[in-house]
Amino acid sequence: MIPISITKNTASRISTFDQNNIAFGKIYTDHMFVCDFEDGVWKNARIQSFEAFQLNPATSALHYGQAIFEGMKAFSNEKGEISLFRPRDNARRLNVSAERMMMPSFPEDVFMDGLTKLIEIDSKWVPNVPNSALYIRPYMFATDAYIGVKPSDNYTFCIFCCPVGPYYNKALKVKIEEDYSRAVRGGTGYAKCAGNYAAALKPTAIAQSEGFDQILWTDAIEHRYLEETGTTNIFLVLNGKIVTPEKSDTLLQGITRDSVIQIAKDMGLDVEERKISVDELVEAQKNGTLDEIFISGTAAAILNIDEFGFKGERFAVSADGPNKISEKIKQHLLEIRIGSRADIHEWRVNVT
Ligand SMILES: Cc1ncc(COP(=O)(O)O)c(C=O)c1O
Repeated sequence: MIPISITKNTASRISTFDQNNIAFGKIYTDHMFVCDFEDGVWKNARIQSFEAFQLNPATSALHYGQAIFEGMKAFSNEKGEISLFRPRDNARRLNVSAERMMMPSFPEDVFMDGLTKLIEIDSKWVPNVPNSALYIRPYMFATDAYIGVKPSDNYTFCIFCCPVGPYYNKALKVKIEEDYSRAVRGGTGYAKCAGNYAAALKPTAIAQSEGFDQILWTDAIEHRYLEETGTTNIFLVLNGKIVTPEKSDTLLQGITRDSVIQIAKDMGLDVEERKISVDELVEAQKNGTLDEIFISGTAAAILNIDEFGFKGERFAVSADGPNKISEKIKQHLLEIRIGSRADIHEWRVNVT
């Protein structure tokens, strides 16, 4: 195990933090965890003040895109306990992304050690108002100062945190995308790499200019099968049955997606993982068998979609009501996250 040095920030900004008024992604805690990859090994693991990096203008991540990240959350409950939700799954997925992008894997035990120490040190920043959490951003980028396309020899791994309120606070309107593509077979869709998100910005902006909140991506070959939204996985409830696109190398294998499937099964509900065509979705909306559409992700948790657009037409979907399957699963998930429901799959990791 790599030892972690700790240098505390002597000018904490915690007194400026108002947990009842949190702007998503704009406030950072006092510390960050950093580790360097040099000479083929991870070294200099440290917790230090949250501060700017000094970068050479030729830093290869900025040119050739070896940059990957994760997103996870820490939650505080009424008893003041702080816990993480499935953090080892984020560590593993980071390494799946690293493998695809020719980056070194980051040791899972150092990830967990650095992460838990960081959250302990910055524990006052974990909000304890409803629907809020500490968002945690682990990431890695190539740091060679080198112009030429090759895997970098040097990397920085970092984790920083920001307190957050709800990501979206209403049901979403999504546009089923038929022109642009997010990921193609053999590509990087399953990796959480920076470039995937950059490539989505333009089609997302077009969808937003048309009055949608997000894109619902389809496969890149035929634009016929549903994949995921820009930041979440997707589920349909068809005649009481939960259906979600099957895993493939074109979609991010969401940890929330996996949790939803497990919770649904624990609740005795059937879940089908299979191809879902746009035609099937439109047909179900028209013949009344589309009960719900919902999305799943760390940032948004579980949220309904109340409208989808396809070929210029808009289709309404029912998005509220106490008997919604999505609402029951969401409640179940939130209770496990904060520790008010038995954690039978050992998803929670307590920090303090
Ligand atoms: C493209 C994409 N799909 C799905 C997800 C949901 O993944 P998770 O549930 O692990 O947050 C995310 C969020 O990381 C994402 O960016």
